[in-house]
Amino acid sequence: MSLVIDFENKVVLITGVSSGIGFGTAKEFAKAGANVVGCSRKPETDEHIIRFKQTVENEGVQVLYVQADVTKPKELEQLVEKTIQTFGRLDVLISNAGVNVFEGSGDCSEEKWEYNMELNLASHWRLAKLCRPFLAQSGEGVILLMTSNHAFSTIPGCFPYNVTKTAITGLVRSLAIEWGPDIRTVGLAPGFIDTPSNDTWFYSFPDAEAERQHTIDLHPVKRIGTTEEVGDVCVFLTSSKARFISGTTFLMDGGRSALMQDSF
Ligand SMILES: NC(=O)c1ccc[n+]([C@@H]2O[C@H](COP(=O)([O-])OP(=O)(O)OC[C@H]3O[C@@H](n4cnc5c(N)ncnc54)[C@H](OP(=O)(O)O)[C@@H]3O)[C@@H](O)[C@H]2O)c1
Repeated sequence: MSLVIDFENKVVLITGVSSGIGFGTAKEFAKAGANVVGCSRKPETDEHIIRFKQTVENEGVQVLYVQADVTKPKELEQLVEKTIQTFGRLDVLISNAGVNVFEGSGDCSEEKWEYNMELNLASHWRLAKLCRPFLAQSGEGVILLMTSNHAFSTIPGCFPYNVTKTAITGLVRSLAIEWGPDIRTVGLAPGFIDTPSNDTWFYSFPDAEAERQHTIDLHPVKRIGTTEEVGDVCVFLTSSKARFISGTTFLMDGGRSALMQDSF
């Protein structure tokens, strides 16, 4: 008998669905039968949003898109209000929207520090607070905060992104112990995933293809991850199959962190 994870009639809210991990995760939740609410800063007419909506609808579930900047508290309020107005419930929050803010600890300006703190940390806490009453009503409410392998080890120059990604593991613990048993909270820390944000990273090197291949070679699985693989782990961690998991952050990095020296 095969493993069945069924989100039929449940509602998942995912931030940052216009590209990358958020889009891949929306696709996997739709396949699992969930109705999907997504947000990003892009207008509904943007081709990425049309793709998001069509992809979800093609799985026979309902979709709602709300244009919202997660650094703006008022827009977060409207996002949750529209979710409840449309579906009357919320079962899962995937707080995913984020951007690499790679400045370096010596060069980072006050403005970049503030922007990073707002986007990559405070927005997750604010949105979780707004969703809390509805997730508690769900009976099986789950918050998944998207952090990164930078929560556990980092690369020179990736400050202050790595600081906020590390702080998210603390946020996961606090929400789990303060909001349980009504709501489970888990963190997910992907390593290198094939996304536009990682393309930007590879293109910051003189030979992007060589850097990409070098990165692949350093992974025991000899590839980098896909957004759908991250989505699959999100579906599992927020499902009833994972109901004893709370307060912890999972690293999924294709074995990269198991390697002590960069010679392989
Ligand atoms: N890719 C990786 O290898 C990797 C590894 C570890 C962790 N992560 C984490 O995974 C998450 C997604 O990253 P990704 O690689 O999928 O990046 P991406 O392809 O650049 O997508 C980022 C998403 O976040 C949205 N976003 C950014 N700023 C926003 C804002 N202020 N308000 C609302 N939405 C906003 C973007 O939408 P718009 O720009 O259209 O608004 C986009 O949909 C991030 O939290 C990142 O730190 C990624």
